[in-house]
Amino acid sequence: MFIGRPLVTANVAFFSRPSAPEAPSLLRELPSVTDESLLTDYDGYFHYQESDSTLLLTFSAVLDNHVASLNLDLTSGKIAYRRQHGGGRKQHIAKACGLKHNWNPSILDATAGLGRDAAELRSLGCSLRMIERSPYVASLLEDAIQRARLSHAELFQTDFSLHQGQSAQMIQRLSQQQQPDIIYLDPMFPPKSKSAAVKKDMRLVKLLVGNDPDADELLPAALEHAKYRVVVKRPSYAPHLNNKKPSMSIESKGNRFDVYVLSSPEL
Ligand SMILES: C[S@@+](CC[C@H](N)C(=O)[O-])C[C@H]1O[C@@H](n2cnc3c(N)ncnc32)[C@H](O)[C@@H]1O
Repeated sequence: MFIGRPLVTANVAFFSRPSAPEAPSLLRELPSVTDESLLTDYDGYFHYQESDSTLLLTFSAVLDNHVASLNLDLTSGKIAYRRQHGGGRKQHIAKACGLKHNWNPSILDATAGLGRDAAELRSLGCSLRMIERSPYVASLLEDAIQRARLSHAELFQTDFSLHQGQSAQMIQRLSQQQQPDIIYLDPMFPPKSKSAAVKKDMRLVKLLVGNDPDADELLPAALEHAKYRVVVKRPSYAPHLNNKKPSMSIESKGNRFDVYVLSSPEL
């Protein structure tokens, strides 16, 4: 059973090849298609793609008349570059979370998505728990986490976990010991235009999960259950989540981090 069904469910299938692994557990309810020609009946499909003798869980769909594919990698490309050259704790995300050299907070990323912000915060020394409600996105992310644990055990073997479920409810159920120092929120927000600038990866995610029209509900739950602060990432043009004014905002390229300070850690 999926926990917290996606609000918009795209018509997707799992393309099953005889030699490839079976669908991961969260995708077992999807129709299994073995004949490639039948995939055109669906908005998109999951499958395993081989790259450098590694199998990557992949979602493919037609965008602008071309097949676009999405699989996640938490350890290379942009994420690795940002880890190596990204300015460490001078980055906007680090400032928004109030990271200091002697403070490595526990962060609950309640809108995990592609896991990019979470991986970045992990590489800055924080411990991360993530929640993602879409079983589709959670499957792609779990696949990437398993690979990251093999190649970068020191970062991802511990203090980096994913739960599939509905954050507003899961946050309410946290015991006092499970309370995170920071809750981080980055819900979907409609892009200003349908221009090509809207990145392909996010268009594929949007196809799978739609918008997050209930995003405002996350803020009161987060404010009640975070110890020190709640950080909300928004496009620069978006209003404050739940129309609530933050304690401060940090502007980044095209984005803004709204920071709700609850208290300060004793360091
Ligand atoms: C914009 S993406 C997050 C991107 C992420 N920060 C990253 O770095 O890749 C938003 C994600 O939050 C998830 N989401 C939205 N509301 C949620 C909720 N109430 N509980 C759990 N996940 C949620 C959506 O399914 C979507 O995958």
